Amino acid sequence: MSRATSLTQDEVGILLASAVHAPSMHNTQPWRFEVAGQVIDIHLDEDRVLPAEDPSGRQIRIGLGAAAFNLRVAAAMLGHESTFAVTPDPAEPTVAARIFLADSLCPVPELATLYREIGRRHTYRGPMRDLPIPPMVISRLSRAATAEGAELHRLDEDSIRQLARTLRQADDLDLHDEDRLHERSRWIGGERADDGIPSTALGPLPTGPAMVRDLAAGSHIEGREQTAFEARPVIAVLSTDNEDEAAWVRAGLALQRVLLAATSSVLVVSFLNQALERQDLRRQVRDLIGGAWPQMILRIGYPAAAETSTSRIPWQHSLDRSF
Ligand SMILES: Cc1cc2nc3c(=O)[nH]c(=O)nc-3n(C[C@H](O)[C@H](O)[C@H](O)COP(=O)(O)O)c2cc1C
Repeated sequence: MSRATSLTQDEVGILLASAVHAPSMHNTQPWRFEVAGQVIDIHLDEDRVLPAEDPSGRQIRIGLGAAAFNLRVAAAMLGHESTFAVTPDPAEPTVAARIFLADSLCPVPELATLYREIGRRHTYRGPMRDLPIPPMVISRLSRAATAEGAELHRLDEDSIRQLARTLRQADDLDLHDEDRLHERSRWIGGERADDGIPSTALGPLPTGPAMVRDLAAGSHIEGREQTAFEARPVIAVLSTDNEDEAAWVRAGLALQRVLLAATSSVLVVSFLNQALERQDLRRQVRDLIGGAWPQMILRIGYPAAAETSTSRIPWQHSLDRSF
């Protein structure tokens, strides 16, 4: 591990192009990168935060952690081992994660096998097929979370019913929250060239009660389809034992490992995080999973409709320094 050896320009391109494919809340892409030798810093971009919906910066940091995981996967594919630090450094408060690369001693590093899933993974917001997910596949997703120090709790039917009530409360509050609605209008709907979520990616509206989050929050979108959603959704909550900035970034690494493992099993994932964006409602979810800190709520399944995608700012625009 040394700062003296530099990465080639091609390597920097592959690493950062992979990092920016990560999911981020409202596709804000809240990252900036600095490359010094074989050390890569992922900074939080303070111009891309969401003060109304994410005042603590929890969800923004989950996105930064997901970018860090993609970077580690790409590094493994290039033959680099990686270690990382996520504990905040008071001297550099915008650095959310620092990744240290070194030459790999292992011929096929485990993370490298996930590389081809990075570009295939997209957030899916449509109905799932009524097909059960084999227990072996669910275990694989749980192991992906555990490998990054988090936990994935699959909810039973009773917990899903309770969660549905919490989601309805969250949706009702959101519909009347001017600050949130205003913030969303900056990022969601319409045509989007390089960030935010275009109308085409919002997914159809459900014809009946369903476990979905409509990010359009009541705004009419011309030509939006309506469809029936699955009767028995598979819902899981990703949690951490701790609740601080480092835990949020780690949750992001775990999230992305779960998502890439899901993609490799031809599964797709939707998110229902409205229930985690208000303290009192988040407490209800916390109770459902035995007291751990819920960080993401996932609806998982086999897609019944076409997948959509979002755009990215070219990685070169997010690179501040490389030497
Ligand atoms: C922390 C976090 C929270 C998110 N919350 C939601 C959500 O509640 N609902 C939703 O539809 N998508 C949610 N997303 C998904 C983002 O909207 C998505 O990652 C982004 O638009 C980029 O699109 P992609 O995942 O298809 O690449 C979330 C993503 C992250 C990282």
